[in-house]
Amino acid sequence: MKTLCSLLSASITALLVSTSAVAAELEVLHWWTSPGEQRALSELKAAVHDQGDEWVDFAIIGGGGENAMNVLKSRIISGNPPTAAQIKGPTIKQWGSLGLLADIDPVAKADQWDSLIPEQLQTDLKVDGKYVAAPINIHRSNWMWVNPEAFHKIDRPVPTTWQQFFDSAPLLRKAGIEPLAIGREDWQLATLFETVLLGTQGVDFYRKALIELDSAALDSDQMIAVFTTLASLRNLLPSTPEQRWDAATVRVIEGKAAIQIAGDWARGEIIAAGKVPGKDILCKAVPDTENDFIYIIDSLVMFRTTDQQQQQAQARLARLLMNPEFQQSFSHYKGSIPIRQIIHSKADSKTVDACAQSARHALETSAKAGSLLPSMVHSMAVNERVKRSFFDVVEHFFKTPRMTPEQASAQLKAAVSASH
Ligand code: BGC
Repeated sequence: MKTLCSLLSASITALLVSTSAVAAELEVLHWWTSPGEQRALSELKAAVHDQGDEWVDFAIIGGGGENAMNVLKSRIISGNPPTAAQIKGPTIKQWGSLGLLADIDPVAKADQWDSLIPEQLQTDLKVDGKYVAAPINIHRSNWMWVNPEAFHKIDRPVPTTWQQFFDSAPLLRKAGIEPLAIGREDWQLATLFETVLLGTQGVDFYRKALIELDSAALDSDQMIAVFTTLASLRNLLPSTPEQRWDAATVRVIEGKAAIQIAGDWARGEIIAAGKVPGKDILCKAVPDTENDFIYIIDSLVMFRTTDQQQQQAQARLARLLMNPEFQQSFSHYKGSIPIRQIIHSKADSKTVDACAQSARHALETSAKAGSLLPSMVHSMAVNERVKRSFFDVVEHFFKTPRMTPEQASAQLKAAVSASH
């Protein structure tokens, strides 16, 4: 005979996986505010609408999501969380362990997410073995977006090493082209740090310094070498950087700047501008990271609620986020790869551009080689406090020309050690 407990849990499961319920309002916090991101988001809004629910937009400007996390904290503290939010990595675990997140495992079980999401990535989405975050896609951060015309004008090849880039920089400036486009937000400087660190020091050092937070690695000759390359990049920062990362991408698209180091959300901007990624704007791995993939998963968590209509709408949303057609169309505009296609790769080479194909190839190679790495900058590797310490030291280094690589390395160890 069934126990009351198992009957209750069966009825909760039925409630969660049922799709034919009363429509509800879904208030979703995110930071997809650039033209490309908004275009991708419109696919999600339309799909939610088609399911009969009403999307209530809760958008907070600021790539990397730090502003969004601050706003979210205050909503949670005041006891009024949104229905769902874009959250990543260890923060998912933190909110989940506090019992704030809805268990979406019944949907995941019914739709067999375990067989669709690579095991390494599943752990980023679960708390105590149960899914609390519904993933959509995977982004790669170690990209260099290049305007080939800029290098054509100065009669130099598109750089594949930092030295080639540094050698081209004075010629680019002479031709009236900024060598490097970058936005004013600190996470973009941190992107230079994260990707240069991987390229110049390799996978093991990346793991030690940015994931394990090994104090010997944080202040080391290798870290000094990272800041030495960053010092050369520091000399090339535009005097008036753009406000936002996507405005920096537009400068590359328009040929006012030669390169931008950015995740493949930049591909979404290239598409939104009507250009062809891989042709009009080239996608090259950051020097010496061709076989590596610094990953970011976009996922939404659902906040625990006692309202049954909301619970059903959350389950509908979770199921939708893993829908293969939705993931395909979202990723097309977003510049990412659908997460469920990583295992059951059905990528159609006719419909995806050269950069998407190259991202998929890098993903497969890096997963085999053990160089699929979570991004520190995009909160996949460390919590927000630790991330902030990295950002503060890196930003201070870029904004203080007299600061030496040795000082930066010592400060990094002190700041990061104090924050965890
Ligand atoms: C998110 C992307 C977003 C990017 C820039 C990253 O943290 O994962 O979805 O496009 O920030 O806003």
